[in-house]
Amino acid sequence: MHKIISYATSANVGPGFDCIGLCLSVFNTFIFSEFDDAVIINNNADTIKNKENLIVKSFYAAAEILGKKFKGLKINVKSNIPLSRGLGSSAACITAGVAAAYLLSGQTPVKSDLYEISAKIEGHPDNVAPNIFGAGTVSYISEGKYKCMGFKVSDKYKFLALIPDFKLSTQKAREILPDMINREDVVYNLSRVNLLISALQYGNDDLLREALDDKLHQPYRCQLINRYEDVIKICKKCGAIGTYISGAGPTVMAVVNDEITPKIITKKIAEASIPWRSELMKVNNEGLECFKLN
Ligand code: HSE
Repeated sequence: MHKIISYATSANVGPGFDCIGLCLSVFNTFIFSEFDDAVIINNNADTIKNKENLIVKSFYAAAEILGKKFKGLKINVKSNIPLSRGLGSSAACITAGVAAAYLLSGQTPVKSDLYEISAKIEGHPDNVAPNIFGAGTVSYISEGKYKCMGFKVSDKYKFLALIPDFKLSTQKAREILPDMINREDVVYNLSRVNLLISALQYGNDDLLREALDDKLHQPYRCQLINRYEDVIKICKKCGAIGTYISGAGPTVMAVVNDEITPKIITKKIAEASIPWRSELMKVNNEGLECFKLN
């Protein structure tokens, strides 16, 4: 029996479209064991309980790569990561499934192998990399292989996830993006993504305030998020350093450096009758964790 802790993530982080990601402190817990017969998933979230489940599919995809066959699988899941809200719930399931295939095959999962297999299944490495390696990550593809560079995030920063009461599929959030981007917008993002990594690492609030701006995805995706403008205005007025759409949305992340601002933002959002909930998160530096239980 093996226990896996798989963390929420926040991809893009403003200008870092499809490449920057952060590992967050909220996590799902999975307990995997071999089973004679059917796949059983006990879950406290609305995950589909059959073989099409992403955890199960990822497990069997990795088992095939490892040349192992499993008749059945028992998985106990405790889900804390909100589904389809731009907080990496899919990546968390995929990496857990892939790691479990290694563990139940008697092999120690090496993080770089987990990353390669999981990123292929996910399609976008920017949620997978921080989930596996922890902290901040810049993911990229080189000679057909997924690679990444990690960076630390100053622990003065906290991330207030403002989570809408509706889901947004990544597919829909990608369909709204234009096929062509003009050069000025690319340069706008390139400059800010460089600022972003330094600002997060060294805890430079003034730089971070400028660095979170984006022209590649947020101006399009915000149209899919009801009450987006109201939420942004509240965050700014209450003193958030900046905001960005987490992953493909719809969660809006407010970056703060104190304990009081998140409380004020949460209160003001409720007072404005915006039916979103908030959850204060910090960056997790460990990434995916595996434990043998017996
Ligand atoms: N970078 C991806 C996107 C994250 O923004 O579409 C979602 O997988």
